[in-house]
Amino acid sequence: MRPRLQGLAASLYFFPTIGSTNDVAMSHASEGVVVLADEQTAGRGRRGHSWFSPPGSGLYVSVVLAPARARTDPQRAMKLLTLAAGVGIADGIHAATGLTTSLKWPNDIYVAQRKLAGILAEGSGHPGSLVVVGYGINVAPAAYPPELRDRATSLESELGRPIDRFLVLAETLAAVASRYHDLLEGRFDAILDAWRRRARGASGARVSWTQPSGQLTGVTAGIDEEGALLVRVSNGVERIVAGELTWLS
Ligand code: BTN
Repeated sequence: MRPRLQGLAASLYFFPTIGSTNDVAMSHASEGVVVLADEQTAGRGRRGHSWFSPPGSGLYVSVVLAPARARTDPQRAMKLLTLAAGVGIADGIHAATGLTTSLKWPNDIYVAQRKLAGILAEGSGHPGSLVVVGYGINVAPAAYPPELRDRATSLESELGRPIDRFLVLAETLAAVASRYHDLLEGRFDAILDAWRRRARGASGARVSWTQPSGQLTGVTAGIDEEGALLVRVSNGVERIVAGELTWLS
């Protein structure tokens, strides 16, 4: 497994219980560090949401990466980092379990209409700085709160058998390492192609979102070369780089 990790997880810190693995990873900031917890007491999701992280039932992992080290166009590499991580995590889940997942822009991992895993990338925002990519995968149904029962799923509920969390950890880290390598080598098209293959909803789905000017609705038209979502609206195409989208279909 070591060679497949390509330097990732050369240092791996495990905590039975921790606030958030992203915070620990940030405090150890050095490329390739991996932080893992059995339970998080203050797990964070995107846009201020919390990430329910009970013990024994999920994978809570943070990886420190340095996309600005990319050989060509480091700014584009920064923008494509979470897409690359999403492809890697989906690849790793498939390698470990045989389960095929789909990606939902920007980087949620779904099975049919239910969310299986999410990614939260955090960095200091300075050019050249390190980025912590944290991901959470629901392994057993207990990994998500009952009120999300209709919107969330887990590997074990999808596959109907016990899943070895450490195999999923090893395969997702190896696949993230491989996609990170693509990014550093400037193989951006390989990442975008892989992402598009796994994200069919990125074209032809109705979405709505809020802009300072108000609520907009449109139909997705894929992603551009920097990973922004394109949405056809009545008077043209909007380019969405961040923010909360509601998927209407
Ligand atoms: C989302 O879909 O909202 C992103 C969820 C990210 C959760 C992971 S679990 C490991 C890491 N530590 C955190 O506090 N959050 C991320």
